[in-house]
This record gives sequence, structure tokens and C-alpha cells, in this order.
Amino acid sequence: MKKLLLILVFAATSLLAADGAALYKKCAACHGAKAEKKALNKSQIIAGWTSEQIVASLKGYKDGTYGGPLKGTMKGQVIKLSDEEINALGTYISSLK
Ligand code: HEC
Repeated sequence: MKKLLLILVFAATSLLAADGAALYKKCAACHGAKAEKKALNKSQIIAGWTSEQIVASLKGYKDGTYGGPLKGTMKGQVIKLSDEEINALGTYISSLK
């Protein structure tokens, strides 16, 4: 019984934890599978950015304090993301090789 409980707790926490790889899937269409592309031929290439840079820009798009002419496109991407999800994306993208 105890074991079953542990397994359930483990399954629940891994479901709740934000998964950067899964979240990045919808970004890959524009930024490339390895973040190697200029999104819509306009963005900077974010491969090689640190997690802090990515998190700062995503939060900036969310609150409107960061971005260039196409920041509206990115606002739509990040507006529904939680801080935890943004952090997970930063960790994931900065780890892409
Ligand atoms: C529809 C295409 C599109 C999608 C999907 C998209 N982006 Fe972007 N992204 C852009 C464009 C265009 C820019 C440049 C916007 C601007 O003018 O600031 C950008 C900029 C960025 C930047 C900052 C780079 C810079 O030029 O300053 C980061 C980081 C980023 N995107 C991450 C993401 C993440 C993470 C996701 C998924 C949650 C995502 N993007 C989804 C098009 C997209």
C-alpha cells in the first residue's frame, strides 16, 4: 500500500512539473528544433543564449517591456505561460546543442 502511494505521488509530481522539451514543441515551428533559426526571419538566434537571457526576454514579452517590431507575435506565445513554465523553457533551450 505504501509503495502504491509513493508511485502515485511520484506520478502526480512529474505531471505537474513543467516540461521544457514538451513546451518547446510549439516554439520549434518558428525558432527551429534546435533554436537555430531566425523566427520569421526576424528574431535573433536564441541557440547559445543563457537560461537567464531567455527567461528575461520571455517575461519581457509577457509584460510588454521587451521586444522588437514583432513582439506581438511573441506575446501571444508566452501570455499563458507560468513563471515555472518560462523557467523550464529557459533551461531547455539553453541546453540545446
Ligand atoms: C509564430 C512564430 C513564433 C513562435 C511560435 C515563437 N516565436 Fe519566439 N520569436 C518570434 C519572433 C518573430 C521573434 C522576434 C520578435 C521581436 O520583434 O522582438 C521572437 C523572439 C523570441 C525570443 C527573443 C529573441 C530576440 O530576437 O530578442 C525568444 C527568447 C523567443 N522568441 C522564444 C520563444 C519561445 C520559448 C517560444 C515558444 C513558447 C516561441 N519563441 C515561439 C517568433 C515566434
